[in-house]
Amino acid sequence: MTEKILIIEDDEAMQFFLSEALKKQGYMVTAFPDAENALVWLEKEKSNVILLDIKLPGMDGIEAIDAIRDKTDAIIIVITAFGAEKHALEAIRKGAYDFFNKPFKLEEMEITIKRALEKQKLRKELKILKQRARKSESFPNIIGQSNAIKEVLSQVAQVADSDATALILGESGTGKELIAQAIHEHSSRKNKSFIKLNCAAIPEGLLESELFGHEKGAFTGAINRRIGKFELADKGSIFLDEIGDMALFTQAKLLRILQDKEVERIGGSLPVKVDVRIIASTNKDLVSEVKNKRFREDLFYRLNVVTIFIPPLRDRKDDIPLLADHFIEKESKASNKKIYQVTQEANEILTNYSWPGNIREFENVVKRAVVMVEENETFITPSHLPLHLKGLPDGIVFKFPEESASLDEAVSAFEKELILKALHKTGGVQSQAAQLLGITERSIWHRIKKYAIDTESIKVLHKL
Ligand SMILES: Nc1ncnc2c1ncn2[C@@H]1O[C@H](COP(=O)(O)OP(=O)(O)OP(=O)(O)O)[C@@H](O)[C@H]1O
Ligand SMILES: [Mg+2]
Repeated sequence: MTEKILIIEDDEAMQFFLSEALKKQGYMVTAFPDAENALVWLEKEKSNVILLDIKLPGMDGIEAIDAIRDKTDAIIIVITAFGAEKHALEAIRKGAYDFFNKPFKLEEMEITIKRALEKQKLRKELKILKQRARKSESFPNIIGQSNAIKEVLSQVAQVADSDATALILGESGTGKELIAQAIHEHSSRKNKSFIKLNCAAIPEGLLESELFGHEKGAFTGAINRRIGKFELADKGSIFLDEIGDMALFTQAKLLRILQDKEVERIGGSLPVKVDVRIIASTNKDLVSEVKNKRFREDLFYRLNVVTIFIPPLRDRKDDIPLLADHFIEKESKASNKKIYQVTQEANEILTNYSWPGNIREFENVVKRAVVMVEENETFITPSHLPLHLKGLPDGIVFKFPEESASLDEAVSAFEKELILKALHKTGGVQSQAAQLLGITERSIWHRIKKYAIDTESIKVLHKL
């Protein structure tokens, strides 16, 4: 396809010179001596690049930029008289791509046009790719195009419409709940309830009554009859989150429901039939829980009919740019900012980090970065990212210290880095971080003090 260039230039000689040179390069060229007529032409025609003189009769080039921007996203390259840098900068601020002072070298102009066109083409392709990546899925809110996530989604599509019990496994923050919801929404039960229950968040004694309900007066404090989650979920799905944390006693009761498909309210005499699809999830290793007798083997086999494993984010780094775009868009809308992308350097940092908290942690980091971006900035740069991300990627050997730094300083920096890393891995819990590092709690405490590490803010960051 021939690329089109529009020249707006009142100096006849200059207009002629540029037109001829660019035609020779194979471009389709149209030229006008003023902005008004060019704008009328732009109502109907398209152009890839616009060469715009600043000093024009009537509407000047600076004003023209806004009017052009309203009509097209063509690349604008500004031509200014010698010594008019002030205008040139203003033009750039208004969205011009580059500027040339007269007299300029034709070759330089040609190279700039070529580069700008290449960039424009790439940007368009990327946009199409991204749209395609999102649109081709029937899971609009699950972002990702890695093979790993595609595999997960194809499993979801396969099992959604059966009534098979599904067990979703994955580290914390990998998207287990999101996938559970997707299973429900792609099943014929989608118009009925999706009831969530976090088995870890409810005290042991109360979980049973939450699940199965109770009759009035069934136990001290049971003032009213209560319908359990299983009954509430009748004809729909129930999501038993963190099932690995369920007490053995409750596990036995759950097993009965799975076998008999009926629940008994506590203190009730008659069992109630329920038709519920069960989706369970945990970040625990259930096989070892079974081995250690913390999880019933028979229940495990009942739940493990269909297993969907969501890989950690560090194993599907292809998804990072798309996820970054997604969360930037979401967050900048909420905060009314115009942020376009992460810079390449920032993207490298995001890609090199190991994301122990997976997508939840990633989302928090991007949200925080959007908040930190100043009004006049449009990109997320390394300065907007938390320090611990910039630490040493796992498995990378420490570099020699800068020439000016001593070995002691370098060792200290390395030690601080490792402590920070361990603290982030454990959500700021010192005792666990000490364990990770193979040192005592006393010793980590001393070092945290020595390096003035703010453990509270690490904890807050992980809870965001
Ligand atoms: N592929 C994805 N695309 C977009 N957002 C995602 C994706 N995966 C996870 N998220 C988002 O990340 C956050 C964590 O996801 P979710 O709560 O489903 O994870 P989880 O595995 O249940 O975590 P936890 O073990 O901590 O309960 C949510 O805000 C969710 O919307
Ligand atoms: Mg969850």
